[in-house]
Amino acid sequence: MNAVLPSVVPQPVAARLTRAAIFLVVTLGPGREAETAVRALCADLSGLLRAVGFRDLEGGLSCVFGIGSDAWDRLFGVPRPKELHPFREIRGQHHAVATPGDLLFHIRAARMDLCFELASQIMSRLTGFVSTEDEVHGFNYFDDRDLIGFVDGTENPVDGAAVAATIIGDEDPDFAGGSYVIVQKYLHDLAAWNRVPVCEQERIIGREKLSDIELSDAAKPSYAHNALTTIEEDGEQLEILRDNMPFGSVGKGEFGTYFIGYARSPRRIEMMLENMFIGRPPGNYDRLLDFSRAVTGTLFFIPSASFLDAVLPDGVAAPEAAAPAAADPPPSRRGDGSLGIGSLRKGASHE
Ligand code: HEM
Repeated sequence: MNAVLPSVVPQPVAARLTRAAIFLVVTLGPGREAETAVRALCADLSGLLRAVGFRDLEGGLSCVFGIGSDAWDRLFGVPRPKELHPFREIRGQHHAVATPGDLLFHIRAARMDLCFELASQIMSRLTGFVSTEDEVHGFNYFDDRDLIGFVDGTENPVDGAAVAATIIGDEDPDFAGGSYVIVQKYLHDLAAWNRVPVCEQERIIGREKLSDIELSDAAKPSYAHNALTTIEEDGEQLEILRDNMPFGSVGKGEFGTYFIGYARSPRRIEMMLENMFIGRPPGNYDRLLDFSRAVTGTLFFIPSASFLDAVLPDGVAAPEAAAPAAADPPPSRRGDGSLGIGSLRKGASHE
């Protein structure tokens, strides 16, 4: 069940898989000017998106904007999203590194030029105030395959199930309509992977390579990728939404998968990562990692679109967009130093 408040509009987290994407991770420079520039961008982002996206409505341009734990403190103070924290590295059979990142822009479209134009417009607003940590241009590879040759994304939840998996509801009412995302950039040793017989590759992933059909329970080992990333709580499967993209540079011999996973709680993704990197039980780890190295790892909170629209450069919520609930103080900086924009006006909950 997911009761998103009707007046709160989420960001397009559950957008469909696209042919092109840009993943842009930046860190904030020092000083209040950098914070003001980012806050000014928050409310302007929807306008930039409309302007670029209108040039080809068929292109389906979308952008999801995420904010890291330290940046949240600088930009918005309290209240904080309940489960926001820096990405926690994992040292198991393999190493899931934690790397810097204050802001994430996940830009998707049917055409790379749309993604590129929006990324350029965003950076023109931030240049001088941020450092780029990582920029990856992802592309669709044949029938939604990653560069290891397997179809990626088959078991993603869709429509209502995607929203239920990703969008925060009653569990954190101040941030209902928000989401969490973890990104990791993986580099594959394709030469080594391609030396593995296809039948063993299929056991590592848990699906047939050509047909994408899932292996039967009898044929699937407990270390299969899709076994270790299937997690349950109280008998119910906990889902996340992935929009992985291949990327690479043939000249540099770089072949990668950009992992991006959205969920209403980061704990779900962290449990999957623990199963993959440490193993379930410990030692029974994901063999995909013998051929795929995580070179980045960052966690972000995705505020609702309503939240972003209400942010003003000086940090005071726009009254019409973020009118306080009856019990809240006025929409200005609170006595505790917070910006008072965590609580958007609450209406009756719906399913
Ligand atoms: C090198 C990086 C990765 C590659 C190449 C990769 C590839 C794949 C492939 C080919 C599938 C099977 C098709 C599908 O259902 O999508 C799959 C499933 C899945 N992956 Fe990954 N994956 C990667 C990393 C991750 C990470 C880091 C996570 C989570 C932390 C994850 C979570 C999942 C989940 C939840 C499923 C669906 C399991 C099911 O319900 O059957 N993957 N992945």
